[in-house]
Amino acid sequence: MSAIMRVEKLTKKFGDFTANDSIDFEVKKGEIRAIIGENGAGKTTLMNMLYGLLQPTSGQIYFDEKPVKMHSPADAIANGIGMVHQHFKLSPSLTVYENILLGIEIKKEIKLGKKAVKLPIIDNSTERKKVDELIKKYNFNLDPDTKIRDLSVGARQRVEILKMLYRDVKMLILDEPTAVLIPQEIDELIETIHGLKRMGQTVIIITHKLEEVKRCADTISVMRRGRMIGTVQNDDEATSEKLAEMMVGRPVLLSVIKSGKPVNSEKVLYEVSHLSGKNSEGRMVVNDVSFKIHENEILGVAGIEGNGQTELMYLLTGLMKPAGGSVKINGQEVLQMYPDQLRKNGLGIVPEDRYLQGLCLSMPVSSNLIAGYHGQEKFCHHGIMDKKSIRKNMDKLVDEYDIRLSKDDPEVSQLSGGNGQKVIIAREFSSDPSVLLMSQPTRGVDVGATAFIYKNILRMRDENKAILLISSELSEVKSLADRIIVFHNGEIVGEFIADEVSFYELGLYMSGAKSMRDPA
Ligand SMILES: Nc1ncnc2c1ncn2[C@@H]1O[C@H](COP(=O)(O)OP(=O)(O)OP(=O)(O)O)[C@@H](O)[C@H]1O
Ligand SMILES: [Mg+2]
Repeated sequence: MSAIMRVEKLTKKFGDFTANDSIDFEVKKGEIRAIIGENGAGKTTLMNMLYGLLQPTSGQIYFDEKPVKMHSPADAIANGIGMVHQHFKLSPSLTVYENILLGIEIKKEIKLGKKAVKLPIIDNSTERKKVDELIKKYNFNLDPDTKIRDLSVGARQRVEILKMLYRDVKMLILDEPTAVLIPQEIDELIETIHGLKRMGQTVIIITHKLEEVKRCADTISVMRRGRMIGTVQNDDEATSEKLAEMMVGRPVLLSVIKSGKPVNSEKVLYEVSHLSGKNSEGRMVVNDVSFKIHENEILGVAGIEGNGQTELMYLLTGLMKPAGGSVKINGQEVLQMYPDQLRKNGLGIVPEDRYLQGLCLSMPVSSNLIAGYHGQEKFCHHGIMDKKSIRKNMDKLVDEYDIRLSKDDPEVSQLSGGNGQKVIIAREFSSDPSVLLMSQPTRGVDVGATAFIYKNILRMRDENKAILLISSELSEVKSLADRIIVFHNGEIVGEFIADEVSFYELGLYMSGAKSMRDPA
């Protein structure tokens, strides 16, 4: 089959740094191509050039064998290339249909008195029919009249895809589409991708989840440090281990080896009692939640996203007003404290949304690596920042946590997604907290770095810490945690020893089919 898209010697430089280095690459018509690679390998940069968001420094892009130049996403779409971003760009108060049409204007002649004028007016009957047909054709399970704000994340993503299909794109780029999805939605998305292929579309998908790659791709391309390393068929020989090795350049241990150190059940480091919280609409989103975490213990929180885990984290980190309850670190009440007071009391925080709560995008990496700890004696004397020690701290952490930077101390906004996450992990782990609260610690992080983070979480556990691990990644919770609590509807509905419970059993509690609150 012929190539629908081809790039020749495509290079992108940011200053002295080469993010894409003379890339030769092609995608055949109608295939599903996965692109994998370490954080900072250059995947998003390559896709942004194909979508007109970045201009190549040199090289040429061909689409349908024609050389093309894209100065904007509008150019890319006109050429038949669409892209769906991780952060959706939909208008919440408009309906599905309105969002799809947004930006499209059809010049239609209408009569104003005797004059015929051309006005940007949308012929709703025709367009609506086209949207309805697309929804049916691709089996999208969407009601065009629903407002975006009433849709699940998975459904919003389908609207974004639909928006591209409506614009007649022939190739669709999905950059880490599953990072924001819950497991059922991931299944649906993979089904959608197969549906797109059946209808003749070409799809490029970027993901760090090798299991997803195995489930949906025809072919897999690997990038490493700005170069295209190679493309393989997704067959039995392309095992997760082999793919990981291609990405990293050396074998990666993909399984977690738990430590043997016993939980110190004599010593409670973190105690949450009868904690409740209401959201802005007055609904109880965390309802009478109690748990303890001991020294040398990891408590995992399993649950489908949107069941109160986010709000639990807000309550525990001082970002939301509690409706009642108590939280103690080492016996001391800390409820209602601000994050900086919490940190002084020995709390480390890895928040769910790295850009909203974890990083300051316009500040350099060195400042982000001390943010929240900047008042400490080692970084600040009598109110004056100690630049030398801040610099030393950065050099040490960048090396230790393998944070890939494109130049000396760049703004965090210039980091790739996964490297941003590593900045937070490095900061919070190195502050030596006695209690560590983590939400989605490996979201968007590559396999090698994930293994590294797991190893460090287990090391912290063995260094006599108490750790709370909230994750939508069930395998992550199960392989790291000592105990697991399951969240459903803002309540704890189950508690298990991690090694004694099956994925299936956890699933029953997560979905609400079973609950320890049920009468026996
Ligand atoms: N605007 C920019 N200015 C300077 N450097 C940049 C810019 N955008 C990206 N980079 C650098 O280019 C490299 C590649 O980044 P890119 O976002 O393409 O990586 P990626 O493969 O998508 O990684 P991830 O898996 O973490 O998303 C990174 O080292 C990044 O720091
Ligand atoms: Mg990326």
